[in-house]
Amino acid sequence: MQLSSKSIKGKTAWQCPANIALVKYWGKEAMQKPMNPSLSFTLTDCYTTMGVNYYYDAQQTFHLDFRFNNKSNPAFSERLTRYFKIIAPYMPFLNNTSLKINASNSFPHSAGIASSASSFGALALNLCSIEEAVNGAIYDPGEFFRKASFLARLGSGSAARSVYGGYVLWGATSIDQHSSDEVAVPLSTEISQVFHNLRDSILIVSSAPKPMSSSAGHKLMTDHPYRQARVGQANQNIDHIIKAMQNGKMNDFIEIAEEEALSLHALIQSSSSPVFMVKPNTIAIINHIWNVRKTTGLPVGFTLDAGPNVHVIYPVTIMDKVKAFIEKDLRQYCENGAIIHDKAGGGPVKNE
Ligand code: PMV
Repeated sequence: MQLSSKSIKGKTAWQCPANIALVKYWGKEAMQKPMNPSLSFTLTDCYTTMGVNYYYDAQQTFHLDFRFNNKSNPAFSERLTRYFKIIAPYMPFLNNTSLKINASNSFPHSAGIASSASSFGALALNLCSIEEAVNGAIYDPGEFFRKASFLARLGSGSAARSVYGGYVLWGATSIDQHSSDEVAVPLSTEISQVFHNLRDSILIVSSAPKPMSSSAGHKLMTDHPYRQARVGQANQNIDHIIKAMQNGKMNDFIEIAEEEALSLHALIQSSSSPVFMVKPNTIAIINHIWNVRKTTGLPVGFTLDAGPNVHVIYPVTIMDKVKAFIEKDLRQYCENGAIIHDKAGGGPVKNE
């Protein structure tokens, strides 16, 4: 498309939630394509809000002013500068645009929740809105979100999934003809009512910086001795978890999610640079969850990110019972008692 010769300025703002994977993306190929397909659900209350003031003029070069909570943030600005170089070929107007970005998160930094998915999701959505304004063209919604997912992926793989609400699939798999390594897609299959409004209570075990970044973790999969087996396991788990969701099998769903979480940590521990990402309290919480499931039959389970915090997942119908269990048995293991009661949500919101 021909770039405009007129200068154009304006403001956009998006709110984009974080997501939590049930089948984990772990290991990547070139251009941030995933080694295996993944499935997540998008959260509701843990999100990034990002406003962008833009000014496009054919006579100027790219300029970035990034602020987090109205304060400059050199570390993330550097990451963004590298990111803008990568995405410029897909958004040529950026070479002649200055951007003033201000972002904030609804969840405290100390919550230990990765904010890269919600941040890059919010940024990609803003960039698509700016592209529409600069090009004077409105994309159809499908195209708009596909491009946002594509751009978000280039910032942080899991961010590709955050631009949609509900359950989201990323990575080619034979079970869904729409799935792709390039962009995430909302899970298109009908799922049983019991998986609507899934709850996720996030137990903050530690807010300390993680001993290994996710990019370092992905790299460890390149020569990992279990690489092939992991690809096979993830593909099989995608297939089984989607079938469990279609057939209303909550216990199968929970078992697969837990197997995925523990496999992620086992892969880290069996890599060439092993580290413990979990803490003793993480294990204590998991043992309580297994025990309550065994003794009461409550369909409550967990998943983990590449960190020590535990996402307790359960259907909304047993919310009161699970919250009582969390208060009685689990809160004691949380750092300063910190818990975020979140739930699956409808996805990003355009604020401006
Ligand atoms: O998007 P990244 O590079 O931060 O990787 C995310 C990896 C996991 O959170 C562990 C799993 C996932 O699928 O989100």
